Amino acid sequence: MRHKYFRKTVRLVWKVCGIRVLLACGINIIDGLLPLTSIILLQSIVNELTSILSNPNYDFDSILVLLIIQFILLVVTSMIGSIDSINSANMEAKLDYYVGLLVIQKSISLPLAYFEDAEFYHHLDRITKGGYGNKLLSPIKTMLGIIKSSITMISLFSFLWMIHWSLGILSILSAFPTLIIQTKFGRERFQLIRFQTPAAREANYTSALLTNRQSAKEIRIFNLGEFFKERWKKRFLLNSRNMLKLNKKQDIARILLDSITALLFGICAYIVVSLLKVGKMTIGEFISTAQGIHSAQASINGISTNLAKIYEINLYLIDLFEYLEYNDEQKFTKETRNLFPSYLQKGIFIKNLSFKYPKSNQLVLNGITIHIRPGEKVAIVGDNGSGKSTLVKCLMGLYQVEKGSVFYDDIDIVNIDNCDLHKNMTAIFQDFMKYAFTVMDNISFGDIHNTHDFELVKRIGIQTGVDDFVKKMPKDYDTLLGKILGEGEELSGGQWQKIAIARSLFRDSKILILDEPTSSLDPLKELEVYEQFNSMTNGKTVIFISHRMAAARMADKIIVLKNGKVAECGTHDDLMFLKSEYYQMYSVQAKWYS
Ligand SMILES: Nc1ncnc2c1ncn2[C@@H]1O[C@H](COP(=O)(O)OP(=O)(O)O)[C@@H](O)[C@H]1O
Ligand SMILES: [Mg+2]
Repeated sequence: MRHKYFRKTVRLVWKVCGIRVLLACGINIIDGLLPLTSIILLQSIVNELTSILSNPNYDFDSILVLLIIQFILLVVTSMIGSIDSINSANMEAKLDYYVGLLVIQKSISLPLAYFEDAEFYHHLDRITKGGYGNKLLSPIKTMLGIIKSSITMISLFSFLWMIHWSLGILSILSAFPTLIIQTKFGRERFQLIRFQTPAAREANYTSALLTNRQSAKEIRIFNLGEFFKERWKKRFLLNSRNMLKLNKKQDIARILLDSITALLFGICAYIVVSLLKVGKMTIGEFISTAQGIHSAQASINGISTNLAKIYEINLYLIDLFEYLEYNDEQKFTKETRNLFPSYLQKGIFIKNLSFKYPKSNQLVLNGITIHIRPGEKVAIVGDNGSGKSTLVKCLMGLYQVEKGSVFYDDIDIVNIDNCDLHKNMTAIFQDFMKYAFTVMDNISFGDIHNTHDFELVKRIGIQTGVDDFVKKMPKDYDTLLGKILGEGEELSGGQWQKIAIARSLFRDSKILILDEPTSSLDPLKELEVYEQFNSMTNGKTVIFISHRMAAARMADKIIVLKNGKVAECGTHDDLMFLKSEYYQMYSVQAKWYS
């Protein structure tokens, strides 16, 4: 077990809600002493009652005092319970917020490559399930529970020992079986949850497919409903069957355990009755001893249950802190970081660049060398899977490269502060985002420092053709889009595309990258978009990816990628003259445009 995470948790909880932790400590100490207090009180009351029976001139004052104390004790017990649960709820809420924020912050600062990894998603899924507050509070509550039960146990143990040493020993002995079984099942339960995450994820995903709006159409057209339902049933039942199996095992073990406890209890009862028989015990002592043995066993069970829980909790803490300790993207200090060249003079140099995805042996990019001059319009073409998207992601510093590098003027990309790098470029991806916010938001997200500049949004809206459909909408640029956050407007694929283009142009950056954002348009429409885009980006460096050659024709330079290598590079005329890769692709597609 790695206890360092336990310590970290305590430190974190202390930092977030120190005073409340102290309050909880106080409550648990008082709570721990209550059982002995009530047992001693019970003993006194019973002894007084026996004197009433044997003495006709009994003075009732002393029993009255005892009954009042009993009443106060009851009220205090109930009050403590309420204060404790209010205090816990408060701490939980604070921790939920604080740790939720930490996890979000971490997710923002992790390199993109993590998000390509299924194992990473499983990890994230495990830690975000079921609220952070109660999970993090769990170790503290468990420890306090152990302290409380220990106080109870020690006080009752001393009480029983004073009556007869064997009673003390027997109550301690009954702890061991529980401890062993609880620890074993704590570990098994966590491993089961961990192991079944993929099945649970699939069940959740399938159920989401069946219940969400986006998939509803296809599910009906392709009659997938029943099929997915069966699949969900299988995964769900597999999951719950394993859990039930474990519960059954645990229950059987518990029955065995309870029998041992009952046996020990029986032995204690025999000893107590013997003591009573030989006159070494008053009736009050007899009753309080019976109660004491019972409470001592309960407190020992409490300790062992909590000790076992620590195991389970610690496994969760390892998961959480390992997530929070994932390596962030490289951060530069003021001295070491380079800023992006304020004015790109020589251009972008890709030098002998190679790249492979994590957990894969295949080079997706292999020894690529390209020079892009400032202000040049470059088209990257090639078959699906030839490495076009990967190349531009390397250019944008989203992936760390395997070998070689990218230079902006003379500065190696690895030395450029990522924030500054991204400030100077803009991109539209193949799978661009459709934010369920207003039109204004969707466009102005292109430059988060400038989200109130309505004039600019409007101007770019007009340039990109967004304005044509937005001005017909009820609230103009304040119209909500999509149906996720309310009754927003639905847009067509082409309209979303225009919004995405507007977003990328909203940022005044020197380098623009388009990764087939228009692939869902028909070839002629796509050509039109590119022509329009070209006229709007005069003087800027534009890199666009397409598998449609007519759009490439407009470029100053065309780079043909094949299996991760540069197969050809030159102008349209150069490459047509070569009569090789580009020529063939172009000829095949030429009929689309004639
Ligand atoms: N996240 C990823 N993990 C592993 N392999 C990937 C990933 N993304 C793409 N690939 C692989 O890299 C190759 C190039 O992909 P990509 O750059 O997307 O090609 P293109 O954009 O030219 O269609 C493909 O063989 C693809 O299977
Ligand atoms: Mg691609």
